[in-house]
Amino acid sequence: MSIEARDIVAWLRAAAAALEAQREQLIELDRAIGDGDHGANMDRGFKAAMQRVEALDTTDIGQILRTVAMALIATVGGAAGPLYGTFFMQMASQAAGKASLSPAEWAAALEAGLQGVMDRGRAQKGDKTMVDALAPGIEALKQALAEGADLAEALRRCAVAAEEGMRATIPLVARRGRASYLGERSAGHQDPGATSAYLILRAAAEALGAVP
Ligand SMILES: Nc1ncnc2c1ncn2[C@@H]1O[C@H](COP(=O)(O)OP(=O)(O)O)[C@@H](O)[C@H]1O
Ligand SMILES: [Mg+2]
Repeated sequence: MSIEARDIVAWLRAAAAALEAQREQLIELDRAIGDGDHGANMDRGFKAAMQRVEALDTTDIGQILRTVAMALIATVGGAAGPLYGTFFMQMASQAAGKASLSPAEWAAALEAGLQGVMDRGRAQKGDKTMVDALAPGIEALKQALAEGADLAEALRRCAVAAEEGMRATIPLVARRGRASYLGERSAGHQDPGATSAYLILRAAAEALGAVP
């Protein structure tokens, strides 16, 4: 099975819908350990991204992902805009000029996106950020594919691992971003960026036909 440009657009649509549906939850989470704007940021950013993506007439997956990156950078303030912008920009360079991706190429693109986020934000696993959902999700995806799982099963395991990573941020003390200003008081709350990252990876499982 290969992932076509229309599947990428379906993924982005599903992500935008999930971020819209969970807007209030993301606001609440960010209110507890940040400034309460993460839900509005992500909803606004993905709406702007989808407006531009739906207006494209292309099968170049790189162009689609670059369009998302630019929209997020232009419309999302705060830390998450540039970080997710980097994520999609790095994915875009992996997919430049390609009208379809093999599952392995899809995983490699996600991994490049994650590396971009980690370089830009200087966050490691365990710092209570979006990395804590992205990294285990993408690792599980790669491992499942390496074990011979089909794409649907690999995406399902990716979403499960990302959800576990998201929940595992609850006891952590934040070491990056606004939540780190709270020090020990950031413990006991789920990280908003890890939550949006889980929603984005879960949307991939949904859009490609494998809801966990
Ligand atoms: N340096 C960083 N590296 C990775 N992720 C980060 C970093 N700083 C913040 N984040 C993520 O961004 C989320 C907050 O996003 P958002 O509320 O939109 O931006 P801001 O913190 O500027 O208000 C956090 O929950 C965290 O997951
Ligand atoms: Mg915020």
